[in-house]
Amino acid sequence: MRHPEGMDVTAEPLSLLRERTSMKWRTYPDDVLPLFVAEMDFPLAEPIARSLHDAINRSDTGYAPPINGMGEAFAGFAERRWGWQVDPAQVTSTTDVSVAIVETIRRLITPGDGVVINPPIYPPFFELVREAGATVIEVPLVHLPPEATNNTEATDATGASAGWAIDLEALEQAFAAGARVYLLCNPHNPLGHPHSVQDLTAVAELATRYNVTVISDEVHAPLTHSDGAFTPYLSVSPETAETAICITSASKAWNLAGLKCAVMVTASERMRAVIESLPMEVPWRMSQFGLIAGIAAFTEGEEWLDGVIASVEGNRHLLAELLDVQLPGVGFTQPRASYLAWLDLGALGWGDDPSVVALERAKVAVIAGPDFGREGRGFVRLNFGCAPDVLSEAISRLAAAVSSHRSKPESAD
Ligand SMILES: Cc1ncc(COP(=O)(O)O)c(C=O)c1O
Repeated sequence: MRHPEGMDVTAEPLSLLRERTSMKWRTYPDDVLPLFVAEMDFPLAEPIARSLHDAINRSDTGYAPPINGMGEAFAGFAERRWGWQVDPAQVTSTTDVSVAIVETIRRLITPGDGVVINPPIYPPFFELVREAGATVIEVPLVHLPPEATNNTEATDATGASAGWAIDLEALEQAFAAGARVYLLCNPHNPLGHPHSVQDLTAVAELATRYNVTVISDEVHAPLTHSDGAFTPYLSVSPETAETAICITSASKAWNLAGLKCAVMVTASERMRAVIESLPMEVPWRMSQFGLIAGIAAFTEGEEWLDGVIASVEGNRHLLAELLDVQLPGVGFTQPRASYLAWLDLGALGWGDDPSVVALERAKVAVIAGPDFGREGRGFVRLNFGCAPDVLSEAISRLAAAVSSHRSKPESAD
């Protein structure tokens, strides 16, 4: 259960953030607002900071033990949050979500086999599938216009955002044609869409019928909004236990990406055997600080998490209002999870990759839509895990760039 009251978690001011040395703050000069990579601007949750300080005070900087308290920590969180019963003995910790995806795919395929992904999709998915020696099979998600588009509040019966759906017919065709693995992103990045129970149940039936293994990347799930409904894939039906592996982490929800720790969750001996057959280095490469922080997040981090979700939801509504007023041509289906906005800038005439214009003319760094697949032409992904005034400034800058572009004579460009 969520704590409706949460706690007040406010993003740090730019002057403090610019002292950080992570990717978000070291890629662009100070005149650029960095709303690109998926890092958040909130201060670290106190229980996590305390655990890390305690570890430093004990000089506790050796190897992370593969047998540790992560199974119990994650199982407790999954039960409280989603009513999902996880067996702690079926939780294996590892270095990060990306490595876990590559290594499990590698284990499940013979080189060249197909792995299905749903563009527009988190760009590294294309690369991770290839790194594992597999072939990318694209089954784009379906957008459900018109009522679900443009700043809508619409939700479906399950509370999931109604703007998107899995193309089950195309998915079945891909499975029937021989795909071995389906790399599902739930909630979906960049759409912030928690997949509906109906879609996930249908996926489970297809996966069983065609003997496809589903790897469900659920790293954004703890950030599901109060009006969203996240369903863990392994909880939708008993069938999923035999055919699915969940890979997740505290890294997105508690902003711990640099600490390197993730978990692989299974629910059957068959899938557990897959994880046990991975090279020993997969669990061994995890970071001790990542493990300590991840356990603190899952056991003591929920009050902070609810505060962050409240802030992020506030920003989501603010973004919708700002776009309505200042950039009414921009398409935006409000996400129901996480802090990423998938913006259709096609109407601005900024070309297939509007991120170039946004950076040059507005000094706002966002991620190029085409990086997410060909469906992303004309789009950008904007990170709104920041302070409301930073978000307002970013939209004002983009709007000013549109007006100055319009008011310039043709020859000036
Ligand atoms: C859907 C998704 N999967 C994986 C990752 C990367 O996770 P990690 O840093 O643990 O490899 C991200 C990062 O933003 C993501 O959005």
